[in-house]
Amino acid sequence: MQLELNNVTKTYRGRQAVTDVSMRIGPGVLGLLGPNGAGKSSLMRILSTITRPTSGTVTWNGTDIVARPEPLRRVLGYLPQDFGVYPNLSAGEFLRYLAAVKGLSTRSAKERVDELLELVNLTDTGSRPVGKFSGGMRQRVGIAQALLNDPELLVVDEPTVGLDPEERMRFRNLLGDLASDRIVILSTHIVSDIEAIADDIAILTAGELRRRGTPEELLRSADGLVWEAIVPVDAVADIRQRATITRTVRTSRGVRVRAVAHTPPVPGARPVEPDLEDAYVNAVHTPITPAGVTR
Ligand SMILES: Nc1ncnc2c1ncn2[C@@H]1O[C@H](COP(=O)(O)OP(=O)(O)OP(=O)(O)O)[C@@H](O)[C@H]1O
Ligand SMILES: [Mg+2]
Repeated sequence: MQLELNNVTKTYRGRQAVTDVSMRIGPGVLGLLGPNGAGKSSLMRILSTITRPTSGTVTWNGTDIVARPEPLRRVLGYLPQDFGVYPNLSAGEFLRYLAAVKGLSTRSAKERVDELLELVNLTDTGSRPVGKFSGGMRQRVGIAQALLNDPELLVVDEPTVGLDPEERMRFRNLLGDLASDRIVILSTHIVSDIEAIADDIAILTAGELRRRGTPEELLRSADGLVWEAIVPVDAVADIRQRATITRTVRTSRGVRVRAVAHTPPVPGARPVEPDLEDAYVNAVHTPITPAGVTR
């Protein structure tokens, strides 16, 4: 089970959305992190054979997915970012309809749909129309449809948008469980979504792959670059000029500021252990030269 990207570039009307991305992806959860417009969805659409790379190649177990998409499509589950539902159908009806579209036989479709409704905790929604579901319930319908064919490659694009904290956690656990014997690629711009489940993280900014590694490797990349200081409220703006602030907390003694910079952003700032959020911010914004001057 291996997905390999070689120098993948995607251009829309002359504008590059994905630039020269190469990676090898094996079983487990790959967290694709990046800010809005980084190219996450474009890359995922390429991997899902919805769109073709402008240049570069993608292979699935050695087979080019543009020349021969079928082997990948058979084992692919995809939850697009803009997943739409038929509002008048129940969850079961909707999933059975999609199962038919995907070519499952009526009998195995019924069994599989019941199994999936159970898995995503929607069994007791009965005949309620999907149009009346909450955002989180719809996302669960989305993940269920992506699992209809028990995919080896599961691509889910920002699946946690609109979920409440409890649903987020459930969703994360579900994806983590699924990843034991398949490739799960999950995009998000929220670090905590993947912190607990991704063993492999890729950070994309402006179409480029900025970092790739385990959470530990990412953490190490921000070693010595994270600072905390308690400062008066009116000093925060000044720090923002010299560092990327990752957190501010009001305290009785002033604002506790956490920031990423090559040198202490204010005199007396103390170095702290990076967390994944700091490491992500550092990877995305590398605007600081070793001298501490913003480029
Ligand atoms: N079909 C398209 N036609 C033209 N430009 C596009 C198209 N799809 C994406 N783009 C552009 O490509 C760039 C990358 O977009 P993409 O949707 O892949 O980013 P993203 O990381 O998924 O962002 P978000 O977090 O907002 O979902 C953006 O500048 C976007 O405007
Ligand atoms: Mg997107």
